[in-house]
Formats: sequence, structure tokens, C-alpha cells
Amino acid sequence: MSDDILTYSSGDNEILSGSCLSVDTEPEILSLRPESMSDYIGQKEVVETLKIAIQAAKQRGEPIDHVLLHGPPGLGKTTLAHIIANETGANLTVTSGPALEKGGDLVGILTHLEEGDILFIDEIHRIPKVVEEFMYPAMEDFAIDFVFDKGVNARSHKYRLKHFVLVGATTRVGLLSSPLRDRFGIFRTLDFYTESDLMIIVSRSADLLKIKIEEDAAYELSRRSRGTPRIVNRLLKRVRDYAQVRGDGIITKKTVQEALALEGVDEKGLTNLDCRYLKTVIEFYNGGPVGVEAIAATLQEESDTLVDVVEPFLLKIGLIMRTSSGRKASEEAYKHLYKNCDRRP
Ligand code: ADE
Repeated sequence: MSDDILTYSSGDNEILSGSCLSVDTEPEILSLRPESMSDYIGQKEVVETLKIAIQAAKQRGEPIDHVLLHGPPGLGKTTLAHIIANETGANLTVTSGPALEKGGDLVGILTHLEEGDILFIDEIHRIPKVVEEFMYPAMEDFAIDFVFDKGVNARSHKYRLKHFVLVGATTRVGLLSSPLRDRFGIFRTLDFYTESDLMIIVSRSADLLKIKIEEDAAYELSRRSRGTPRIVNRLLKRVRDYAQVRGDGIITKKTVQEALALEGVDEKGLTNLDCRYLKTVIEFYNGGPVGVEAIAATLQEESDTLVDVVEPFLLKIGLIMRTSSGRKASEEAYKHLYKNCDRRP
């Protein structure tokens, strides 16, 4: 089996094979991940939709429909795939769009799936076209068509697959072709978390990691985590280190402020890259409108990183606007740039 595929057996989440762990499969992040819908905080409507689909499918004795989850990184798409597998008692196979280079890569995975198994494809918008074509009959008819020989000698053979469940995750639903998008029965978008949801998440994580954190410290950390559980959990670990080395181990608001200053995370949770982005739009392109490719070229960053990682939160908090002629900085962005970003080292 390829290095880019992980298979988890149901129940114990045991990793059976694989290497090259992505951020979401690092052991410490895994240990903080909720394992059931009842432990999952936030995204109420998404959770409700999935709970109903799972219960209804169980009552009928069938696997659930294919699920497409859309939203910025770190909001819980992978976590939900793990939970769906746990709650349906199915095995979970994890791969990603870029790892599926040839039709054979996908066929190899599909032919090993058992009835009800979950196949999670992260970054599904990055599946090559040749691989995508195998997806259509696999998703719709649970079959793959093998074609032997060419021209007049061409013969095809239908290979029956077990009734699996595809869970696709994407940060860019607009890049998915409509035939692929239309084959998902359940399509939900995850939104940024509220500060109160993040406070519950960070308090739960602190309990699991046996860290003492004061309430105003949990609030400060949540407020500065860009509405993202993965960020709040990552920052919690940095703050834990800081409290252990520079304090008495207990996380106070002051510890959070000092540790986050060291991490380059400001009052609104913005990082150096966010500040460089705002500075470019405001100072280099006179506040916009400017295309993302131009911003990326000036910053010498990938435009995908800006679109997937940087912009969603800046849009959410109203620091930038997307217009038909490009990105524009808001008045709030000017204030933030001169108040916070310009004080960075
Ligand atoms: N850890 C990361 N995301 C979480 C969530 N949505 N609920 C509970 N714990 C989490």
C-alpha cells in the first residue's frame, strides 16, 4: 500500500499502515480529536445533518450517502470523517487528491474497500481529471469499467465494488467539476467557530493534556485563534511550554499574551503573513482592487496559500473585500495595519 494511504480499523482508530503523517494525523492532534458526534463542539447544523443521515441509514441497514465537506483548513473536516467511521462502525481509509496520480491509484483503493467502509479524500478538488473519471461510476453504480485493448479490439469489463461511502473534503468547492459535486448526496460547508465554542474546545483539550488554564486565559486564546480549532489547539501547546518554562505551569491571561507575542500572533489572531498581505494590498497596491496573483507575486507566496489559508479569515472579519476587479482593503484593515502590524519586529 502507498505511503499516502492510511487505513484505520473501526472502534480503536488503530493506524494499520502508512507514513508521511499530515497535520491532522499527528498523534497529539489525534488525541485531542473528538471521537463521537456527542463530543463534537460547534457546527451544529452540520452535526445534526450527519447524525440524522447516520441514524436513518442504520435503521434502513444501508450505508449513508456520499458526503462532501467544504471549508477553510483546520475546521474539522478530517475529524468529521473519523467520527462518521466511528459512529457507523466502519473502517476508514484516508488519502488525498494529489496522492491519486493515476487511475490505478484510486482503483487499488476502491477494490479493497468493504461494505460500508469510509473512503476519505482530502483536497478532493486536486484529483487529476483521469482519476476523476473512475470516480463517477464508482460513486453512482459502485462499479469500475476496465477497458482492455484499443480500437476495434477494445473490450470492457465491469468490476463490482462494495457499497462504500466517499467523504470528500475541499477548501475550494468551486474547483470541483459539477459531475463530481452532483454525486454527493450530502454537501455541507463548515464555518469559522465562535469564541464561545473555541473556549469549550480549548478547555476540553487542556483537560485532556492535563494543563491548568484560567478562564480569562482560555478566552484570550480563543479570541486569537482565527475561529479555528486546529489553531487553538496548536497555540495551547505553545502557551503550555511558555507557562512551564517561564511561569509556574498554570496558564494565565498574561502567559497567553506573552507567549502569543513570541509566536507573532496579534490582538486579532493575525500572523506575520496576514500582516504582510495587508501591507502589500494597502501600501503596494494603494488599498486595491488587486488580483490575488499579483499579491502572491509581490509576497513570493503561492496564491493557493493566500486563497485557502489567509483570505478566508480576513474576509470573515471584514479586513478585506472581494470585488469583481480584485481584493480591496477595508478601513478597518488600514487601522489594524498601522496599530498592530507596523509594531512587529
Ligand atoms: N477538537 C478539535 N475540534 C473539536 C471540536 N469541534 N469539538 C471538540 N473538540 C475538538
